[in-house]
Amino acid sequence: MKQKYFLALALFAFVLSKEINAQTSPAITLRLDQPGHAVSPKLYGLMTEEINYSYDGGLYAELIRNRVFKDNPMAPDHWSLLQEGGAQGKISLDRQNPVNTALTICLKLEVQNAGSRIGIANDGYWGIPVRPKTTYSASFYAKASQPGLLAVSIESNDGKTVYAKAQSQAIGSEWKQYKLTLNTADNVTPTADTRFVISTIDTGRIWFNLVSLFPPTYNNTPNGNRPDIMQLLAGMKPAFLRFPGGNYLEGDYFTSRFDWKKTIGSLDQRPGHASPWGYRSSDGMGLYEFLKWCEDVKMEPLLAVFAGYTLKADYFDDPKFLQPFVDEALEEIEYIIGDKSTKWGAMRARDGHPDPFSLTYVEIGNEDGFDRSGSYEKRFNQFAAAIRSKYPQLKIISTVGGKNDFLSSRFPIPKENPDVVDEHFYRNSIEMQDMANLYDNYDRNGPKIFVGEWATREGFPTTNFNSALGDAAFLTGLERNSDLVIMSCYAPLFVNVNPGGMQWKSDLIGYNTLTSYGSPSYHVQKMFNHNLGDQVVMIDTKDLPTQIKKPNARDSAAGRPPKTIPAMFFSATKDTKTGLIYLKVVNATSGAQNVNIDLKGSSSVASQGTVITIKADNPEDTNTITGPEKIVPSTTKVKGLGKSFQQIFPAYSVTVLQLQTK
Ligand code: AHR
Repeated sequence: MKQKYFLALALFAFVLSKEINAQTSPAITLRLDQPGHAVSPKLYGLMTEEINYSYDGGLYAELIRNRVFKDNPMAPDHWSLLQEGGAQGKISLDRQNPVNTALTICLKLEVQNAGSRIGIANDGYWGIPVRPKTTYSASFYAKASQPGLLAVSIESNDGKTVYAKAQSQAIGSEWKQYKLTLNTADNVTPTADTRFVISTIDTGRIWFNLVSLFPPTYNNTPNGNRPDIMQLLAGMKPAFLRFPGGNYLEGDYFTSRFDWKKTIGSLDQRPGHASPWGYRSSDGMGLYEFLKWCEDVKMEPLLAVFAGYTLKADYFDDPKFLQPFVDEALEEIEYIIGDKSTKWGAMRARDGHPDPFSLTYVEIGNEDGFDRSGSYEKRFNQFAAAIRSKYPQLKIISTVGGKNDFLSSRFPIPKENPDVVDEHFYRNSIEMQDMANLYDNYDRNGPKIFVGEWATREGFPTTNFNSALGDAAFLTGLERNSDLVIMSCYAPLFVNVNPGGMQWKSDLIGYNTLTSYGSPSYHVQKMFNHNLGDQVVMIDTKDLPTQIKKPNARDSAAGRPPKTIPAMFFSATKDTKTGLIYLKVVNATSGAQNVNIDLKGSSSVASQGTVITIKADNPEDTNTITGPEKIVPSTTKVKGLGKSFQQIFPAYSVTVLQLQTK
């Protein structure tokens, strides 16, 4: 039986090798004899905004949902009344007892009969993550009609298991913040089938506001971030973070824009705001936290400033009405890079960072190609002139003017001459593969390009391997053209995979209450960034396998017929200090490809090298919250390399081949 199996396998391998040999093998030549341009050191970064529960219920480690009771003006969403042992009472929103001008709505608990226990329970962001031997920091503002102690606990949803508990001091009659620490035992099994409870055994009335619970955070930063997600991000070694959006920057209305001044300072000064993605933002992830996040991951902030245009198409282009927003942007920049002797630099120092952060790029607005009024030209010019006059060292990014972006192509490059224009692409896999050569013949006389949002959109909530193939193909084009395309970042970065967590299908990193994972595309991007030299090596290609790209809606509208495009993609960069070549190969075909590889212009190539490969059996295969590592890269050593050699690249794969040259 075993023998028969091996015979069949040998026959299959023979047929397969014949099949590969039968067609002309693809051939590539690395032109080390023609040194290419320098690779942009900022080529790979991150883009972020509050979408898909990116911060609240995501990176930002706060565990209490609707902590200031403003999520729904009619009812205390995510809070419930807990009554045990014959208790009787009620909870309601109360606008008569503000803590201050930010915390204007509180939760009132009225207790007629305390029974064995009565209180308020919060269901968290799809539960409260319970882990063994963990310390949680709880805090809340409270006042009571008569003094009494409160019990605070993290417990199972049925109340039968208490994982951690603590008791408050006696609650007084004036608003005061109470802080407690809760610890779980060593033998607790991780679970999110849990709730957070504050309860009493007394009758009377108690008012609550800003109820907060934090688990341990990354670097133990107060008001900090989830360590597992931060580790995934740090693992990508991103050069910059584009924030705070995206649509989240613009908001639906002027009142719901990212109003940065309302996002700084102590949490009790942050009212939160309605975000355009269907839920309210706590603004716990405020301007300062974005900057700290950048510092923690060693990336530079790339600040997008609100530019006087909202998603519902409201705008100011009259210079006098626009000026307050220009001033707001200048102050925001001062908060980031102003000396601590300046007004807003001093606020940053107050918030914990006396030294300025670093900042090179400021983007004016977001996707203003959607502004059909054409007001961007005027708005951009007013912002750019003011920023350049105060901060001549900053480079300015325009959201229109890119020639290949269907959104912004309606508008010319603004007269104030942006240093960089931002282009966004969301496409399917074959479209992205078709865009691998997008920048090869692009006009090099205009501004540089920032691909500030891009993604192949196949598979959800995080994308599948076919997307990773499209992404990788597209990235080969960005690397090859990184004299022009100086920065790029995928979007959206995050998705909470719990039911109702996703507003935008196709995301890079997924998580639930307890765990997180990277999509195949996450791993591809990491492979690309970790294996990046400082000089591009041009590649000649021959006899590449091809595929047919059917017309998409845009093609049909323009009368474009089906198109034959390559099904393999390449880029190479060299580390000029070490002579190491990073050759990236994308094989989007269903068969292994035996490629003839020549290196022209190198005196020697080591016979041993390193191969890092990520591949899938089927393009639809993917990583999930329950199978987070189905598709991850593997690293092996390879022999038989030289100035001329053959290498087999598996079906549906992305490979980095490291070649040591002299
Ligand atoms: O990434 C999701 C959204 O796509 C962004 O908020 C917006 O800029 C773009 O249209």
